[in-house]
Amino acid sequence: MDISKQKNKCWNLDQITLGTCYYPEHWDSSLWRDDLIRMKEHGIQVVRIAEFAWNKFEPREGEFTIGWFDPFMKIAEEEGISVIFCTPTATPPAWLTEKYPEVLNADAQGLLYRHGLRRHYNYTSPKYWELSRRLIHKLAVHYCSYSNVIGWQLDNEINCEMAEFHAESDHKAFRDYMRMKFETLDNLNEKMGTTFWNQTYTDWEEIHLRRHTVGGFNNPHMELEGKRFISYAAYAFLKMQAEAIRPYLKEDQFITTNGIFPNVDYQRLVPEVLDFITYDNYPDFAYGMDANPRQEGNLKDRNSSFNLARVRSISPVFGIMEQQSGPGGWTGRILQPMPKPGQMRLWTMQAIAHGADYIGYFRWRTCGYGTEIYWHGLNDYSNEPNRRLEELKTIHEETVRLSDAGLAGARYQANYAILRDYDNDWDGAEDKMYGPLADKSMDGWFRAFQHNHIPFDFYYWRDETTAEELGQYEILIYPHPAILTRERADILMEYMKNGGTVIFGSRTGYKDEYGRCPMRPMPGFAGELCGVRVKDYTLLGPDDDMEYVSWEGDRMEAPWFNDVLEQKDGGEILAVFQNNYYDGEPALIRKQNGKGWGYYFGGGFSEDTANGFIQKLGMKPVRGVSHVPAEVEAALRSKTVMIQTDGTEVVRNYLFLLNYTKEEKTVELENKFEDVLSGETLTGQVKLPGYGVVCLMEEER
Ligand code: GAL
Repeated sequence: MDISKQKNKCWNLDQITLGTCYYPEHWDSSLWRDDLIRMKEHGIQVVRIAEFAWNKFEPREGEFTIGWFDPFMKIAEEEGISVIFCTPTATPPAWLTEKYPEVLNADAQGLLYRHGLRRHYNYTSPKYWELSRRLIHKLAVHYCSYSNVIGWQLDNEINCEMAEFHAESDHKAFRDYMRMKFETLDNLNEKMGTTFWNQTYTDWEEIHLRRHTVGGFNNPHMELEGKRFISYAAYAFLKMQAEAIRPYLKEDQFITTNGIFPNVDYQRLVPEVLDFITYDNYPDFAYGMDANPRQEGNLKDRNSSFNLARVRSISPVFGIMEQQSGPGGWTGRILQPMPKPGQMRLWTMQAIAHGADYIGYFRWRTCGYGTEIYWHGLNDYSNEPNRRLEELKTIHEETVRLSDAGLAGARYQANYAILRDYDNDWDGAEDKMYGPLADKSMDGWFRAFQHNHIPFDFYYWRDETTAEELGQYEILIYPHPAILTRERADILMEYMKNGGTVIFGSRTGYKDEYGRCPMRPMPGFAGELCGVRVKDYTLLGPDDDMEYVSWEGDRMEAPWFNDVLEQKDGGEILAVFQNNYYDGEPALIRKQNGKGWGYYFGGGFSEDTANGFIQKLGMKPVRGVSHVPAEVEAALRSKTVMIQTDGTEVVRNYLFLLNYTKEEKTVELENKFEDVLSGETLTGQVKLPGYGVVCLMEEER
């Protein structure tokens, strides 16, 4: 398969479509038709069903009731509601886990995760494969034939809640994976640096994923391989599922899964296994109420745009499989506030602005029993009309206008990208020296781009990435790629020679692909890209004030970790450090490579630092607006609507302006626009009410 042609697989809908997650098994069947009719009244055309319903299809081992959903499917067909059918592997039945405990996942100490929640199984047990495949095959044979089944969701949120695996079958599969990868124990021992602390392996049977260790630590190189393995195991498990369905799939039916979660290489999973990715979007999580609040300059629900940008990097046009429609809550975990009037609409438009052509609300009705009694859907327990359903009607009217204006299929536009790769994401997740630094810098750039209204993409390296493909971006920011291989450095060099600019931060290029630090000058292969050598470095400790640099007389932060630089062939010093024992030493060096530039900055990127680069390099905000308050997000989707006889294209732009605050904000437009949502013509000063959104359309010839 030519993967490069398959990359960026997108959801191809001809209109912006609304759907919801529905659980026929939770409700008396007498409610089904009424629910579907009311859905239609609110503009909902699609339901996603069955992702937790294994018991309904196989109540006891080998006893199949595959047609359990038939009565519901018939009503849905009659009512003209489309269905996304799911494979129910995220919740194995009690009979299964009792009889075959080997299908369970375990913690690092080997203690099994038992029945009671969900996602307690592993991806490698031959028994779970066998039972899953048998059921999925039967489901595919039966349900693909329904005319209203538009596609399939595999499993549910692979690697959510649990992204680590320690079952016996995982250790064994990891052993096989390591054997395939390294072939000999000598090779494995060398690459994994096992001489250190006497970890040398003498038999394949000695090899395990992390188990119960002192402090929970592991050999870092084995840990990185462990994460690569988990991603591979998830991929293989979903591939098995897709292969069980594909022979029965009609041409216009798709296969997807809902993400996005740790330790999965979606850049490989989607092109090879799925038709596109869908995302579960809960902006209340972005407030950071349950963990890791991004306090400083917290963007709150606007932070969701960070993950939406990651989703776009997988499928530029995607779907939201679960969109928050009420407060979230589990009985024993997380409690979230009720979306304020207008917020559900705002969050819907935020997802659409980033490239979602499908919005499926979680869930039609709040369940009155089980772990998620506080996880509200569109309807409350009472099933009475409510404010959120009224808001849904408005959203529906507006999505119809967006569809009529031709938005479906338009792509988010960005001239700049933050480069990422799974090697550094996964190695950095365990490496406290550069992992947290990379997270903070990513956040600094994200906030700076958001506040300056500069659209950006995340670009994830794939094995097939070429300089030409990177050339779609004027500037690439690659904050702290500790692991930087010769091959990737060469691609970046070619990208620069063609006119691109790359910005690196401290801690670049000091590791190899196994996460070891080879004996060579730092920053490894980035040295020749930027004309630089790192001669000293330090983490900024409690006794160090914030480091600054002076760049053409302007002061800019150089936070968290400093690489003290030295100029090498072709390098030009642009800024020096101020404030520490390396006062006056080079902090920023750049080198011209062909038509482009390589920048090496010896610090992390706070918002202030990113702002400095934005200003000095002249990165441009969206056009057509002369003033947008910092609290308002600007996002642009575009598509070619016509090719004229002289070969020039007519491009239609859709500029979304989203106000995340409860206060009114004023934007100033340069041109005259039509607001697709209201149908009004807007010009000059435009007032966006609290949580307000406009979508400005214009054509470029
Ligand atoms: C998602 C999950 C749903 C539901 C929802 C609210 O992560 O896919 O099944 O649990 O969260 O918790």
